[in-house]
Amino acid sequence: MASATLPAMRIGDILFDSPFLLAPLAGVSDSPFRRLAREQGASGVVTEMVSADGLVRGQKATLEYLRFEPEERPIGVQLFGADPGVMADAARALCALPPAERPDWIDVNMGCPVRKVVNRRAGAALLTDLPLLSEIVRRMAEASTLPVTAKLRLGWDGSSSNVVEVARALEGAGARAVAIHARTRAEKFGGEPHWELIGEAKRAVGIPVIGNGDVRVPEDAVRMLETTGCDGVMLGRAAFGDPWIFRRVRAFWERGVRLPLPTAAERLGTGLRHLRLMVESVGPAAATREMRKHVAWYVRGLPHSARVREQVNRTRTVDEMSALLRGYLEELERHGPQACAECTAPAAPADDPARPEFPHAAG
Ligand SMILES: Cc1cc2nc3c(=O)[nH]c(=O)nc-3n(C[C@H](O)[C@H](O)[C@H](O)COP(=O)(O)O)c2cc1C
Repeated sequence: MASATLPAMRIGDILFDSPFLLAPLAGVSDSPFRRLAREQGASGVVTEMVSADGLVRGQKATLEYLRFEPEERPIGVQLFGADPGVMADAARALCALPPAERPDWIDVNMGCPVRKVVNRRAGAALLTDLPLLSEIVRRMAEASTLPVTAKLRLGWDGSSSNVVEVARALEGAGARAVAIHARTRAEKFGGEPHWELIGEAKRAVGIPVIGNGDVRVPEDAVRMLETTGCDGVMLGRAAFGDPWIFRRVRAFWERGVRLPLPTAAERLGTGLRHLRLMVESVGPAAATREMRKHVAWYVRGLPHSARVREQVNRTRTVDEMSALLRGYLEELERHGPQACAECTAPAAPADDPARPEFPHAAG
């Protein structure tokens, strides 16, 4: 069991008060969700991946992804791209933002398996080109006053798994930390992750190594720290509809305590709050669209949740969605306070990202 007195992680000058971070999640780790994760104890968060090209061109949609609230800090902005000059310009542009809008660090996506991205040599395709990957990070580190980090996979496929070599190259190029999703690009999101290779990479470099892949419960997070020696752990799918996972992981890591799962009232109350934050963040029309998947995750495992998931997909306005959640909570409470308090099935088992609700699965 790790203890709270152990030093938490550090990347450059950024101090993390625990090793547990929210992973970058395209279409999911929006600003409201990042805030909820930080409130529940994630020690840092990363934006969904942002196009370096779009940033440099000042594309409005890209710039929207860069917005965050002060309480999300420490926050990293994740960039994807394959042109070293553009990536360096994008890093420079981030560093030139006014302090309140400037992130704390800049991360490079080297894990996205999606064809549209790898066909442009970006994302996981960078793992097949060490000189290019090194050049990108070197140019970015030279251009940046913020720490530059990278998030990668084990390699392109089983026969070209080169994570140790890549981690060394990244360190040599100036990366201040690496996060490793313990699968190859070919493995996408399925099958057993190979945590032992996180350990091999950790032993090969001096910079912090953050492990990632299939951490679902507090015991997994502590086991990943202990068995690989990694400095931090990133959680992705386990946080879907369950930002409380960070509180549970932390309590277990700090005190060996297993906190209860959130009640139905907590889950639906947070769903309503998430909806309000989303409206403030992106306006009512986009909020209704964006919140459908989050609501489906919040209700997961509760009685009659299949019906509610189906209903939420038909809601057209914020008011309809709020009314649905409130009505559902009342319905659960009518079955007695016990029924509501005991609805504590895990909100978000690791889903199959190939399903339609993961159109952007990008790491
Ligand atoms: C819907 C979805 C979106 C993702 N988007 C990104 C992304 O933008 N950048 C990235 O580096 N990884 C992305 N990933 C990968 C996750 O950060 C993480 O590496 C992966 O889900 C494994 O961790 P987990 O088992 O804790 O979910 C995404 C994964 C999913 C499921």
